[in-house]
Amino acid sequence: MGGVAEVKGGLPVRRVIMLGAPGSGKGTQALHLAESLAVPAISTGEMLREAVAAGSELGARVEGVMAAGALVADDLMGEVVASRLERDDVRAGFILDGYPRTTGQAETLDGILARAGVKIERVLLLEVPEAELIRRALGRGRADDREEVIRERLRVYREKTEPLISFYRERGLLATVDGYQPVATVTAALIAALGAD
Ligand code: AP5
Repeated sequence: MGGVAEVKGGLPVRRVIMLGAPGSGKGTQALHLAESLAVPAISTGEMLREAVAAGSELGARVEGVMAAGALVADDLMGEVVASRLERDDVRAGFILDGYPRTTGQAETLDGILARAGVKIERVLLLEVPEAELIRRALGRGRADDREEVIRERLRVYREKTEPLISFYRERGLLATVDGYQPVATVTAALIAALGAD
């Protein structure tokens, strides 16, 4: 079920960015899409949390920033993502979850992909009402899911990440999906959006 052959509209796109506010379901849906498209889901938030848990130098640099709901510096994120996208498993594609988050990061990503001779093929935006975003995060209880930190992450999203919506819309890459529906319904809508021209 859900294999590549079932994606509608001819050849499936496999270099995909998930965009959306904290709690909109990017991570959840990235895993489902990764399975359907047989490509890896790459979550920068997850990579950073693993670095913190491992007590690495990277973890030490980002722990306080993440706990405050702020963004890790673009240069550092560029290094993290560039080294991840050098691995063999992304040759056929990837679902990026949580990167890019600023226009600077989007430009860095363009450069990384251009060196590999590939491009982003679709940007999937999940739209969810703010009250639901907060409800979901509070229900989950991650270290940065305290209400004041969630509100700061939302504020940072509006200020720094939302400009990417028009950035990618102008390039004809954006597809918007209602993320305020059951998980399986959202997944089906995202797969349909990947197949659409
Ligand atoms: P990151 O891990 O990317 O966090 P986020 O963007 O705040 O996203 P979340 O993980 O909170 O939400 P999500 O949209 O993935 O939703 P999820 O599927 O988990 O980043 C964390 C931090 O790392 C940042 O604040 C920053 O400090 C740093 N960072 C990461 N990337 C960075 C970058 N590029 N630049 C700089 N700093 C960076 O779902 C949320 C909850 O809702 C779950 O419990 C889930 O089960 C539930 N849920 C999902 N879908 C549904 C549904 N349809 N119905 C009901 N519940 C649902």
